[in-house]
Parts: sequence; structure tokens; C-alpha cells
Amino acid sequence: MLEKRIRRADLKDKIMSAEDAAMLFEDGMTVATSGFTPAGYPKEVPLALAKRAERGDKIGITLITGASVGDELDGVLTRAGVIKRRFPYQTHSDLRDSINKGNIYYQDMHLSHVPQYIDYGFFGEIHIAVVEALAITEEGGIIPTTSVGISPHAIKNAKKVIVEINTSQPMELEGVHDIYIPNKPPNREPIPIIHPADRIGTSYIPCDPDKIKAIVITDKKDKVRPLGSIDEDSKKISGYIIEFLEHEVKMNRMPKNLLPLQSGVGSVANAVLGGIVDSKFENLTCYTEVIQDAMFDLIDEGKVTVASGTSFSPSEEGLKRLIKNMKHYAKHCILRPMEISNNPEVTRRLGVIAMNTAIEVDIYGHVNSTNIMGSKMMNGIGGSGDFTRNAYISIFTTVSTAKNGDISSIVPMVSHVDHTEHDVEVIVTEQGIADLRGLSPRERAKKIIKNCAHPDYQHVLMDYLKRAEKEKFKYQPHVLEEALSFHDRFLKTGSMKIK
Ligand code: COA
Repeated sequence: MLEKRIRRADLKDKIMSAEDAAMLFEDGMTVATSGFTPAGYPKEVPLALAKRAERGDKIGITLITGASVGDELDGVLTRAGVIKRRFPYQTHSDLRDSINKGNIYYQDMHLSHVPQYIDYGFFGEIHIAVVEALAITEEGGIIPTTSVGISPHAIKNAKKVIVEINTSQPMELEGVHDIYIPNKPPNREPIPIIHPADRIGTSYIPCDPDKIKAIVITDKKDKVRPLGSIDEDSKKISGYIIEFLEHEVKMNRMPKNLLPLQSGVGSVANAVLGGIVDSKFENLTCYTEVIQDAMFDLIDEGKVTVASGTSFSPSEEGLKRLIKNMKHYAKHCILRPMEISNNPEVTRRLGVIAMNTAIEVDIYGHVNSTNIMGSKMMNGIGGSGDFTRNAYISIFTTVSTAKNGDISSIVPMVSHVDHTEHDVEVIVTEQGIADLRGLSPRERAKKIIKNCAHPDYQHVLMDYLKRAEKEKFKYQPHVLEEALSFHDRFLKTGSMKIK
């Protein structure tokens, strides 16, 4: 069994317990790991490291991952006080709490920036890379599992590499990955992807075998997150997007099989892709970050021919389905380093249709995807900025209200900006769709309020706009002392509604 997983004889001497591997860590180290949207992250070594800290060893690290990871990494290390600084994206509730309480320093980053930050030395030295692997090749190449994320750059730049061979990951994953690391400027060359199905690299991550200091064997499965069921609001949002895309085809602005789709994380994003299953679109391609459950439906229905991403991010049911039918899905899926899956150059060249989720949107089209009420970190910007800024067209979805209607997701001014008016082209809520192309700020405001705001808030927003239009400067008018009055009202009274 292990012969298939560790194909280089001299590396078998490196097999050790997670407890022994955990002794390689020292206080103050910067650690980069595999893992992206709880998929393909190391599990045994972080558990052992947390135990070390709980036994009283003083150990604090900077932790860099591809994106969110499971409890065995973000959860246990947060609770044990091991994580001091964290980049670039997270979804774990304990970690989020610690960040919002100010106990962990966190920097929310564009995901496509992270691999090059590692390569350029912007994070300083990477002391240890810990990566989950399917197998190690005869040359020492590391075959990733359900995600690629930053692993190629972590392995390339780390002083020491710890590999967790996960025997629960199906061998059929071999061949799914396409590993390509661009040269650093000034020697960078164009990334030769001109179609989402193009393969440009190797099926393993090259690694100097001498850097591999420990190999730990595990069969722990990815602790994936449930996806919410597809509710009426998501269905409506999905319906508006499909109608919009059909219209774009009719206007000859997109081919019949559209352009490569990118769809963000979460339940609404999954529902939007789910809606396409019942649409008349065919021969679709996806150039995206995460491959969620709905993508498997699209592949099974023969609607999607190829899905390129950096991670499989299914629900528990989806994971079972993926593992059971890995051979079938492997024919249609490619997992790339996140520097390539989220690459601005490739996104612009392919003409990706970007669909991401907002927390709130303002009347002029600025989007907040990360900071609740301007200061409480939710997850992070993830890849949404990578795609939005460079897409053929960028669409944002949100339900028009939150917290049982006490919050309007359409506000006069967003309390934090992730995506500016210059990057956001279409906004969709369950109320309707606002196509903002070619509109000046005041035209945009009227359209967003009329088409996307919940009826409970439309008149208050329109009233705000009318008063703003009386101010001296009329380009993107605001009554500054009132611009955040919706948020202020919610914080003081528990509702944005005027009582
Ligand atoms: N004001 C305040 N809170 C709001 C809100 C608003 N306008 N809109 C939503 N919320 C709250 C919800 O109530 C919920 O709170 P809870 O956790 O206390 O229940 C939380 O925000 C998440 O909302 P939900 O509707 O469950 O969101 P989701 O699962 O669809 O995720 C994002 C939405 C924006 C958080 C998520 O898509 C995200 O992290 N995006 C940024 C990263 C990204 O786009 N990555 C993909 C790139 S490929």
C-alpha cells in the first residue's frame, strides 16, 4: 500500500509520528501549509503541535495557508494559542473570534497575491511547509490531494518540508493537478493558458527530497462544510443571472456556450451554478477557484466540459460523491496553484464571467464582502478581487436584507470597500438585477435602489439620494454625516428600519 504512496525508497526513513514531526517547530517560525476551503489541509501535525503547546511548550507561529482550512489546523491551533499571525483567508469561528477580539493579527489578502508574496520573500523566511499529499514520486515530487493552493510556492521556498500522506484520498486524484510556477520578474513569461482545459505544467510539485524532513501517515478526511439548501431567494437570484446571460448571448456579446464561469464560495454561489443545470446552456467551461457540489451536477448533466480551479470544496455529501466517482470527475477537472487559478492575466485573456457574493452594496455600486458593520471581519476577500477586477463581466449577488429584515444589504455608503464602483458591473438580489454598465453614479443609484433594494428600504434610500442630490457637488453626491446612518441605526436600535 505505502509503495504506491511513497515511491522513493530512501524517503521511507523519514516516516515518523506526528508528535516527532511537531518537534521540528520553534517559537516565532513562519509556517506555510496546504489547504484551501477545508480541502487538502494537513491534520495530524497541527493536532500534535497544539498538544505540544497545551503541555506548556512556548510556541507561536505565523500561519499562511491557501484559504480556509479545517478545525484540525485553524481550530486547534487557535485554541492552543499557537497562531499569532494569520494570512490570507479564514472561515473558522474560533479563529474569527480571536481575530475580532484582537488576539491574532490577520491580514486579508487577494489570494492571487499570496504565492508571489512567498516567492518574492515579502513574508520573510518560510521555515516549514506542511503539505497534505496523495503520494511522493520517485523523484521526490509531491502529488497534492483535494486542493493545490499555495503548496507549490510553500514547498519551493520553505527550508524544511513535512509531508502528510493521506491514505483516505483516492489515488484517482493523480493526474488532476497541473502545477506551473511562473518565473519571478523580470524573467516572467506569459502564462500559456488560452483555454480553461489547457494543461501547462506537471502533475506533481517538484521538491528537493533533502528538504523533506518528516513524512506522517494519516487517513483523516477533510472536514468539509455543509452547503445551505437552495432557498427561494437563491433560486430567484440564479434566475435573474441566467436571464441576463441569455440576453448577453442574444446581443452577440457572448458566445452561445458563454465564456468561462467563475463562481464564488458559499450557498448562494452554489445555487447560482445549480440554476444553470436547468438552463439551456451547454458546453460550458469554468475557470474558477473552488469546485463545489453544483459543478458535479453540471458535469453529470454534460453541461460543463471542463472545470479548472484550485480546490474541490464540496459538502459532506459532495465529498462522498467525489471520492466515489473520482475517475469520472478527474476527466473534467483540473486543479492548479492558486496563483494560476486566480491569475489576473489569464482571467482577462479568457474573458471570465465573475460571480461573487457581497455582504453589502451601496447605491453607487461599491461592494463590501468582508467587514460586517465596517469593522468585524467575516472571512476575507478571497479570490473575489482577483476575478472581479479582471473579468469580462463582474456580477455581485446578495440577498437584499439580512438578520430577518433588520439590515438592508443596499446602503447609502458601504462601511468598508472591497470592490469599487470601477469593478462592479452587475448587482443581483432576489428583488431584481441592476446592470450598471455605462451609467453615471446617480443613474446607478436610482437603478440599484429601484431594482435591487428591498421594498422596506426603497423609500428611505431614495429619500437619502434626493437629499444628497441637493448637496453642492453632484457627481457622486453624499450627505456625509448621514452616509453611515443606516449602520449607526442598526448598532443603536438593532434595526436599520426607521421606527
Ligand atoms: N450586514 C451585516 N451582516 C450581514 C449582511 C449585511 N448586509 N449580509 C449578511 N450578513 C451576515 C449574515 O447574517 C451572516 O451572519 P451570521 O454568520 O451571524 O449568520 C453572515 O453575514 C454571512 O451571510 P450569509 O448570507 O450566510 O453569506 P454567504 O454564506 O452567502 O457568504 C460572504 C457571503 C460575502 C460572507 C462570502 O461569500 C464571502 O466570504 N465572500 C468573500 C470571499 C469570496 O468572495 N470568495 C470567492 C472568490 S472565488
